[in-house]
Amino acid sequence: MAPYPAQPIKGRERYRIMMDIRKLDVQNWLTLDQNYMEEHRVRDDLLREKREKVLQCLPESQDACQEALGEVSDFLCDRFPNMFQKVVQDGNCFIRNRMTGEQFDIGGAPGGETIDALEAAVRLTMEDLSILMMNEDGEYYLAASASLFPTGWTVEERIGWTISRLHQPVPLWHQHVASSVSKFLARLTPTSPMERSNYFVEIKRPDENLIEILYRPKGLCEKDICSPSPEEILIRRERQTFRRLPKTGTILFGVKTYLTPLDQLPMQELENLATEMKSWPHYVGEYKGKEVWGAKVLEFYQSRVSQVDKVEV
Ligand code: HEM
Repeated sequence: MAPYPAQPIKGRERYRIMMDIRKLDVQNWLTLDQNYMEEHRVRDDLLREKREKVLQCLPESQDACQEALGEVSDFLCDRFPNMFQKVVQDGNCFIRNRMTGEQFDIGGAPGGETIDALEAAVRLTMEDLSILMMNEDGEYYLAASASLFPTGWTVEERIGWTISRLHQPVPLWHQHVASSVSKFLARLTPTSPMERSNYFVEIKRPDENLIEILYRPKGLCEKDICSPSPEEILIRRERQTFRRLPKTGTILFGVKTYLTPLDQLPMQELENLATEMKSWPHYVGEYKGKEVWGAKVLEFYQSRVSQVDKVEV
């Protein structure tokens, strides 16, 4: 299956953090592509070996996690009936994954474990999933999260944090979008799901395997790598989705990660990346690790421009 198309880098000349939200493409809320089995193995390893680091659910999120699993199962069975099916056994309802052979109880029988519901959901999807709930001060916080492919953080350290605190390290986030994000989350309704996209630049070492590339709790750019090659520079995009769950009123936040090596980026996007990089204030570039990969990206861009010029001459 071809991957769901990732949002291209736009090439904005003025740097500003934007909410950049749009209506969710509901037909494609959750997506599957040819990387499913390979990423499923990575997810399975992480859930077994780093469980506490990638999966945390506060007790108050139990009903929401169960509702999330129900929504995920309904969607996958409708959208991909060849791959996911519901089966009823001894009065209990299960979802069966025909690709992996896994089967999960989706009935939510009383006494069922919260952790099992969100874990089952992210074993079915390619997306990481989180539940946001509102605290007594009216702020949304991370009440449950299965974030297997994080960018510089882990749910183990940040579970329970408000959205505002989660973004503390992001330069200009509070000045540019904090209040719009609060309003947006408060106004989200079950019938107005939304999505947005983000990109990062990641450096991989030549010997890194897919787990090490996708699971990045310490960050995306190791400072001791000084001259990454274009194949080792990855454009790491996230498609983020936001749905208000109708029964519990909580928010289900999904993140699908896409990787594109720099040398496979279309020329227009490479140019757009070069434009955006130039617009970043120094401290934004520092946060994004530009000192590690910036010069190499520009050098690669210039070499592609020269190639195009030669062909045209
Ligand atoms: C409309 C809503 C949101 C907006 C506009 C937004 C925006 C951003 C931006 C611009 C960054 C920095 C990325 C970069 O430039 O490299 C970021 C990072 C991050 N976001 Fe969000 N975000 C939103 C929702 C969320 C939600 C719901 C979560 C919940 C898990 C979240 C968790 C994070 C984390 C953990 C980081 C990394 C922070 C770090 O560097 O430690 N974001 N976000």
